[in-house]
Order: sequence, then structure tokens, then C-alpha cells
Amino acid sequence: MAVGTVLVAGGTGYIGSFTALALLENGYHVVVMDNLYNSSEVALDRIELICGKRPAFHKGDVTVEADCDKVFKAHPEIDSVIHFAALKAVGESGEIPLEYYRTNVGGTIALLRSMERHNVSNVVFSSSATVYGDATRFENMIPIPEHCPIGPTNTYGRTKAMVEDVIRDQVEAQRNNLKKAGKPFEHWNAALLRYFNPCGAHPSGIMGEDPQGVPYNLLPLLGKVATGEREKLLVFGTDYPSRDGTAIRDYIHVMDLANGHLVALNYLRDNKPGVRAWNLGSGRGSTVFEIINAFSNVVGKELPYQVVERRQGDVLDLTANPALANKELEWMTKISMEKACEDLWRWVSNNPKGYRQDPPAELLKE
Ligand code: NAD
Ligand code: WQD
Repeated sequence: MAVGTVLVAGGTGYIGSFTALALLENGYHVVVMDNLYNSSEVALDRIELICGKRPAFHKGDVTVEADCDKVFKAHPEIDSVIHFAALKAVGESGEIPLEYYRTNVGGTIALLRSMERHNVSNVVFSSSATVYGDATRFENMIPIPEHCPIGPTNTYGRTKAMVEDVIRDQVEAQRNNLKKAGKPFEHWNAALLRYFNPCGAHPSGIMGEDPQGVPYNLLPLLGKVATGEREKLLVFGTDYPSRDGTAIRDYIHVMDLANGHLVALNYLRDNKPGVRAWNLGSGRGSTVFEIINAFSNVVGKELPYQVVERRQGDVLDLTANPALANKELEWMTKISMEKACEDLWRWVSNNPKGYRQDPPAELLKE
């Protein structure tokens, strides 16, 4: 029996599609809404190939309230929303800030307004470790706990920090209004999930990240170097005060991350806690050179790179302290960064055109 029905906004994208899969595998019904700006419906075929179930799909734009209303009207059984739909390129966010505020902040407000009209009161939001900015500006804040002060250093990060505030205010206002109306137990509940660096692919090799444009994250770029699509990786700075001079990040397998959404949603439904923020990271930091080595080991050859200047806006260390999620959600990462490299390589080497080609037959037999 289904435990509930979840609207996954942005559910054909990278993290959304893996979360839709995890929800289906754990008894939820899933409705996906996406405008396919950075994804394709083929992701739903792959979900079905893996688990035998397919989410319902509505092409729609979260910034358009009528699109959101249409989905809630078509599925009155939806009781929760997981909201992934957003623009996410840090560099681009500084070039077209209005688009980022419109989509990320405006889109969330439209979705929340529509949720309110349809009495849906659980929301899980894709926030980002970027909201912390440079946590090394404080003493004892690495690894980063949730109480580290927020201080994003780029437009994208500011949209995420703003949405966190919008959601907090909405939950608080709802709670006060319901108290006045004598219905204190029907209040909204929200999880603000601050992801560190998502990576990896499904171990089957048939589902992974397939952005519409050029990738800019470290591991997808290394994938392109390994397949020969790119000549070399540019390493952004070797003058950081780290063990090898390169910057440190907390790489988390997308399946661990998807599972984090599942347990956060279960927690909201069971505990009705109001608003909670949780870091979703492993607690283990890896340098750029460590990632290059781990991925080279998987590929079985040295991957060419060239050291260049630091990238503007990059910080030394974004490693999570995941103790709160470990304790409250009983969640922790189970898949190593090395396994994420293996899974990523299986995905990119077998599907050079991503979802624009059928998966190799031998992978489907396994
Ligand atoms: P993604 O681009 O693969 O997925 C986002 C999805 O939202 C895409 O399918 C896109 O088509 C859709 N979308 C965009 N604008 C929309 C709109 N107006 N209406 C409907 N759909 C829309 O990105 P992802 O990596 O899966 O990220 C998912 C979420 O997690 C985003 O909110 C992102 O900001 C956040 N996040 C991502 C990372 C990361 O490194 N991937 C890290 C932290 C947080
Ligand atoms: C990782 C490390 C780079 C590319 C971003 C967003 C964050 C989140 C995840 C959305 C850094 C180095 C990278 C390259 C390199 N996304 N690098 N050469 O910057 O940690 O985080 O994506 O929410 O919000 O800010 O990820 O993969 O771009 O970089 O040397 O060509 O790899 O300097 O140290 P980042 P990334």
C-alpha cells in the first residue's frame, strides 16, 4: 500500500529523478512536474526500467501558479512536495540574477501559494551548502554544523538562503494562524536540506546526470576528460592551505542524497516538527587532487590536468558536519566517494550521449 503521494517538482532532473526512484522503491506514489529546461522525460523511462514503476508526469513551470494548481487538482491525493525545480549554475547566476531570483525565489513562492490553496502542508526543499559561504571565516566551523551562520557569496547561494527564509516565515505564520483558529496540530512542516557536493550515478549504469548544457562541476568534467571529449581538466588553484594545496569538498553519492530526502519526508510526516534544517554530507572532505586520483584509478589511466588560478568565489573547505541528520533522521552516507567515481564512470562510459541514446543492451540484462 502506498504510504502517501509526493509531488516532486524538478523530478526529471539529476537529484529529483533519483529521489523519485527512492520514493517509488519505498512505497510512495510519485507525481513529477518539470518544465524540462535542464532535463528530459527519458529519466522517467529509466526509473521505470529500474523499479518497474513510473511516476505520473506533468510538464509545467513552477513559476506559473496555474501550472502548479493544475497538478494539485489532477492529484488531490498529494500530501507532500519535494521541491528541486531551480536554476543552479553559480557563474551564470551572477550574469542573469533576475532569472535566478525569478525562478528560484519566485518559483518557490508560486509553489507554496498553490500548496496552501490545496491544503498540502509538508515541503522538503533543496537548499545547498553554498548558503554557508566561507565557513573558515569563523573558528571551529569546519566541518560545518547547521548553526554555522549563513553567508552566501554568490547570487545562486543568496536565492537558496532567501527561500529558506520564505519557507520559515510561511511555516511560522501558518502555525500562528492555526493556533488562533484552534487547530494547532495542522501546521506546515518543512525540511531545508543543505546538500554538499552530489555526484555519482546508478550502479546499473543506466541512470545518471544528463544536463542539457555544458557541465561545470568537477566530476562530470573529469568524466568528459576521461572519454576524450575534453583535452584536460583545469585545476582551480593549488595555493589553498590544504594538505595538497587544492580545495576541499564533501562529495556525496546521489543515491545517499536521495535516501536523505526519503527519511526527511518520513520525519516530517511522523514528527510534524515545523521547520528543520539538515546538512546532507558525508563528513569526509576530499581535495581536487584526491578526486582526480580516485577517478583516474577507476578509469585506469592518468587524466591530464593543468593548474590555473583560483576560480572566483571558491572557498577553501566545504565539509559537512552531518551529526544532526545522523541523530535525528538516523541517516548517514553509506556509499564512498570512490564508489561514486566507479558508478559515474560506468554511466558516462556506457552512455556518451546521456539520455539521447538507448542504454547498452548488456547493461539491461544485469
Ligand atoms: P537539475 O538541473 O538536474 O534539476 C533541476 C530540475 O528543475 C530540472 O529538471 C529542470 O528542468 C527543472 N526546472 C528548472 N526550472 C524549472 C521551472 N521553472 N519549472 C519547473 N521545472 C524547472 O539540478 P539538480 O542537480 O538535480 O539540482 C536539484 C536541486 O538541488 C536544485 O534546486 C539545486 O539548486 C539543488 N542543489 C543542487 C546541487 C548540485 O550540485 N547538483 C547542490 C546543492 C543543491
Ligand atoms: C568542486 C571543486 C573547484 C571544476 C558547486 C556549487 C554548489 C553545489 C555544488 C548547487 C572546487 C574544483 C571544479 C574544475 C576544479 N551546487 N574544480 N576544476 O564549486 O564546490 O559547488 O556545485 O547547489 O552550490 O557552488 O563544485 O564541482 O564546481 O567544484 O578545480 O573544472 O573542484 O575549484 O574546489 P563547488 P564544483
